[in-house]
Amino acid sequence: MASVASKSYESTPPLKVAFLGLGVMGLPMAGHLALAGHSVTVYNRTPAKAEAWVAEFGGSHAKTPRVAAQDAQIVFACVGNDDDLRSVVLGDDGAFAGMKQGAIFVDHTTASANVARELYDVAKGLGLHFVDAPVSGGQAGAVNGVLTVMCGGEQGAFDSIRDVAGAFARAVTLVGGPGAGQLAKMVNQICIAGLVQGLSEAIAFGQSADLDMKLVLDVISKGAAQSWQMENRGKTMVDGKFDFGFAVDWMRKDLSLVLDEARRNGARVPVTAVVDQFYADVQKQGGGRWDTSSLITRLKA
Ligand SMILES: NC(=O)c1ccc[n+]([C@@H]2O[C@H](COP(=O)([O-])OP(=O)(O)OC[C@H]3O[C@@H](n4cnc5c(N)ncnc54)[C@H](OP(=O)(O)O)[C@@H]3O)[C@@H](O)[C@H]2O)c1
Repeated sequence: MASVASKSYESTPPLKVAFLGLGVMGLPMAGHLALAGHSVTVYNRTPAKAEAWVAEFGGSHAKTPRVAAQDAQIVFACVGNDDDLRSVVLGDDGAFAGMKQGAIFVDHTTASANVARELYDVAKGLGLHFVDAPVSGGQAGAVNGVLTVMCGGEQGAFDSIRDVAGAFARAVTLVGGPGAGQLAKMVNQICIAGLVQGLSEAIAFGQSADLDMKLVLDVISKGAAQSWQMENRGKTMVDGKFDFGFAVDWMRKDLSLVLDEARRNGARVPVTAVVDQFYADVQKQGGGRWDTSSLITRLKA
């Protein structure tokens, strides 16, 4: 897959921004910001990726998050989990130590609502802003610049970042106060967990009944059973292909965030809890890096 696909950008005033974390998601997201005309300084823990990014998109790279963040009006990040996020934000070399008063930190990591609230409070104490802004849409959404971004934070900070984030997104929405973006992403993952298990059972059932499942999926995807997972993953599930997409290891991280939050808020999520254990089975089979649609492998003889 190319690192970014071409798209047309809404015209926004060019800003100085930083991007921390050039992984599967961050690399194309930062690329779209550069192509939209912003002056981008990147930081990546493994410097070779930052050098390769600059060779492709221009801009500059910095040795620490603090240096990357120094002149930026907005600092974007997309790293792995809560601890990774703290490690690029806090401490002497962290972004908060370098950011100027009034600058905005936008976190696209899928992390806990707690870490979002914690960093929002620290930012506020330093005269900075923090917006939690996890994304949905996967690698293809990042490459094509059509992610969905769910934000939590203050209206003023959100208003300042919405159009800029539009460089890599088709929807950027404030859903509530600090942590609300992460909670909305948890809702998204609860939907996906149950849905992928249902789709797995449906395909495995149809195959046991000797149906032409690609034909059946074509038919039923025009009716009420249609879903993004059916459209984009159904046929590869029939073929048993999983070496792409959103990794099971990431899904387990996301479901553990859901289960922790549900313990706190008292919500009952029985299907999500069971599917989390099913994903643990997939990991035991060596499928940690397989796409989440590999849930169907548990149902094969
Ligand atoms: N992939 C998807 O389809 C998808 C979809 C939606 C949401 N997400 C979420 O987006 C986030 C990033 O996913 P990804 O697929 O881009 O992951 P990834 O390819 O593994 O990239 C992770 C990035 O974070 C950096 N990083 C990790 N730990 C770090 C630390 N302690 N200090 C500094 N940098 C650190 C990595 O640096 P190195 O290069 O040095 O390892 C890398 O740049 C995750 O929270 C994931 O759940 C992913």
